[in-house]
Amino acid sequence: MKILLLGSGGREHALAWKIAQSPQLDKLFIAPGNAGTANVGENVAIKANDFDAIKAFVLEKNINMVVVGPEDPLVNGIYDYFKNDAELKAIPVIGPSKDAAQMEGSKDFAKRFMQRHNIPTAAYQTFTGQNLEEGLRFLETLKAPYVLKADGLCAGKGVLILPTLDEAKRELKEMLGGMFGNASSRVVIEEFMSGIECSVFVLTDGKHYKILPEAKDYKRVGEHDTGLNTGGMGSVSPVPFATKEWMKKVEDRIIRPTVEGLAQEGLDYKGFIFFGLINVNGDPKVIEYNVRMGDPETESVMLRLKSDIIELFKGVADGNLDTKTLEQDPRSAVCVMLVSGGYPQHYDKGYVISGIDKVKDSVVFHAGTAFDANGNVVTAGGRVIAVSSYGKDKEEALALSFKGASLIEFEKKYFRRDIGQDL
Ligand code: AMP
Ligand code: GLY
Repeated sequence: MKILLLGSGGREHALAWKIAQSPQLDKLFIAPGNAGTANVGENVAIKANDFDAIKAFVLEKNINMVVVGPEDPLVNGIYDYFKNDAELKAIPVIGPSKDAAQMEGSKDFAKRFMQRHNIPTAAYQTFTGQNLEEGLRFLETLKAPYVLKADGLCAGKGVLILPTLDEAKRELKEMLGGMFGNASSRVVIEEFMSGIECSVFVLTDGKHYKILPEAKDYKRVGEHDTGLNTGGMGSVSPVPFATKEWMKKVEDRIIRPTVEGLAQEGLDYKGFIFFGLINVNGDPKVIEYNVRMGDPETESVMLRLKSDIIELFKGVADGNLDTKTLEQDPRSAVCVMLVSGGYPQHYDKGYVISGIDKVKDSVVFHAGTAFDANGNVVTAGGRVIAVSSYGKDKEEALALSFKGASLIEFEKKYFRRDIGQDL
């Protein structure tokens, strides 16, 4: 099997690491990849959104399957691009169709879907510049804090949580006035939900699904969940409150109705679904859907996936995922993210990274790394390296990841030392 994986982050290195363990793999290419994916496959200098270049490469190398890491190519329709092309249509793409990717691409679409299928989520209304006045009045009916969401993709920055009515009104005007460009020409205002978050993942072939290990992500840059939101500073799996009983509620109330709802509505979906959940007094509710795996959740979830991921992907492509098994590793897995000082605001790139070879007890996934002209591995993004570890419990795994985190060096390195402590 020859596989092309699209993307370049820590998630993609973790997926590549797992794919590379499969006895069914002949060759793995990653486009564009990073300095870490080069160790488990061959990087190709093609952007994940350059569909024509991807087509040419897939045909030249006789690729048998394309696995999509990030949401952008999915929302831009890479699944449909393959399906509608005579030369490509026999090559499966692991990821949803363009229409189904609206589950992540449009908050309003996702909310309406949940409403149609009675899937528990926060009450909401959607507003545009045309009914701004109604939006302002709707805010007056809610209690603080106020949750405003840009409808479209904003690289994780489109959600504002505001403590006062005045601020909420001001921000609503700004958002509808073009604060996030076209992405905020529609704004979802929703009820604030209070609880602990948990990320649940499934693989689906459009009819059947398999549940992957769940994980908790740490989004704020500062310890004890302070400071700005980031892409994620670490993750832990399993999540203690995601008991068998709680996961049964998730499956009955959220996963099954979602997969059935997609099928009923003719939304073609063969890929990962990421349920961003919140535990409200013991009841799971959906905060958001994503149409891909989470980052940095993947960097712990892949450690806990025992089964051959290519076999699962084949089940997705062939529509017989029900005949495959997904076995979870009972151990804990965690990841601690090393980031560039200044992230998520301004940070510098190009610092040489050393000490990776000293880390013996963890799996080191690269996120924002690259090679410089001399072949050194250098920083190339805000999130730089994910140090992932196993343990008999999360404490043991965390101790190994923190040890690894201290062995790797680069200028202005920063990481949170409190990952997992709240659980
Ligand atoms: P989203 O991009 O929709 O995942 O939102 C980003 C983050 O904002 C979530 O991970 C939550 O921490 C928070 N959030 C979003 N919606 C709500 C809500 N209705 N109530 C409480 N927190 C929320
Ligand atoms: N870790 C959250 C995300 O990938 O969106």
